[in-house]
Amino acid sequence: MAETILEIRNLTTGFLSDQGMVKATDRVSLTLDKGQTLCVVGESGSGKSVTALSVVRLVDYAGGVIMDGQILFNGEDLAQKRQSEMLRIRGSLIAMIFQDPMSALNPVFTVGDQIAEVLQAHKHLNRKEAWHKSVEMLRLVGIPAPEIRAKQYPYEMSGGMCQRVVIAMALSCNPQLLIADEPTTALDVTVQAQILELLLQLKREFRMSMLLITHDMGVAAEVADRIAVMYAGTVVEEGTVEEIFGHPRHPYTMGLLRSIPGMDGNRGEELYTIKGAIPPISRLPSGCRFHSRCPYVMETCREKEPPLLETAAGHKAACWLSGTVGATQSATAAEDQQEREAVNGTGTEVGLP
Ligand SMILES: Nc1ncnc2c1ncn2[C@@H]1O[C@H](COP(=O)(O)OP(=O)(O)O)[C@@H](O)[C@H]1O
Ligand code: SF4
Ligand SMILES: [Mg+2]
Repeated sequence: MAETILEIRNLTTGFLSDQGMVKATDRVSLTLDKGQTLCVVGESGSGKSVTALSVVRLVDYAGGVIMDGQILFNGEDLAQKRQSEMLRIRGSLIAMIFQDPMSALNPVFTVGDQIAEVLQAHKHLNRKEAWHKSVEMLRLVGIPAPEIRAKQYPYEMSGGMCQRVVIAMALSCNPQLLIADEPTTALDVTVQAQILELLLQLKREFRMSMLLITHDMGVAAEVADRIAVMYAGTVVEEGTVEEIFGHPRHPYTMGLLRSIPGMDGNRGEELYTIKGAIPPISRLPSGCRFHSRCPYVMETCREKEPPLLETAAGHKAACWLSGTVGATQSATAAEDQQEREAVNGTGTEVGLP
């Protein structure tokens, strides 16, 4: 059996607002096995970043409160740790990369100095050793002429180069777990592919596990072993990359898949978009949170929240049509819908799957 490095159980993180505590994640449960990549996908505002920030407890500094749940990292509950302990864990065992590399770099220090500082603090190297290692790290992440680049400031580098520096900094302490939150979103398309490839290569070399957050299903398809789909603070579907792409059970996942440019079925067509918008966490609807946007909505959906249930081995979905019994119903509903579209000649906005 695969060994688990991170197990999030029923994580509920809230923020204080005018309406009292509002939940940005609600009973989120995720499991990441050693050496694997778990991708968390979903539209903007679905709670992906709050989940990641909760794991490393940086959410505390953003005004977030872990209201319930456990974050078991190698069996130890990070939700119960003091910030002084988290400081040590963040520097050495868990590293995090964010969307904007500039926010992670200090503009007034050279990139070499910034990596060296991390190494001095966490690996107790002296200045010379730390500088030498930081040049090595820059070489490892594919920065040409690293001896010269190490003496440069972030503003002298492109966005892609800066993200490489951030990756070098994150990996300099040899973490067991890398959390990357939209690490390629701010970069040019060609650079995105290079950075993804680099992350995958380094993950293998460093024998790391990776929690990768992305709004882009195309990225998840490239890198994930397992995928968790989040919507309005909850996990609505979770499974292997093959299951999620081959047999999606939740209408929201189906919509995300149809929105990928170049996916079978939408070549040459206007790109599909899921109608409507994700609800704000202060005004979540009753029942299924997706019901106002779902073409399959039934009366039950408006009243009762569907639980996350196993639909196939290792594949879960939270939809009244895709529970253990309903998996076939969902497929049938999808077929019915497609047939209706074919008969009625309706446009891309009508009918989800
Ligand atoms: N610091 C904060 N204070 C209040 N609400 C927040 C804060 N950070 C995030 N949220 C809210 O939590 C929800 C989830 O946000 P987030 O995790 O950033 O979404 P995602 O990363 O999936 O785009 C959003 O509704 C967002 O407005
Ligand atoms: S529970 Fe109902 S509204 Fe929610 S996704 Fe399933 S069919 Fe749609
Ligand atoms: Mg985010």
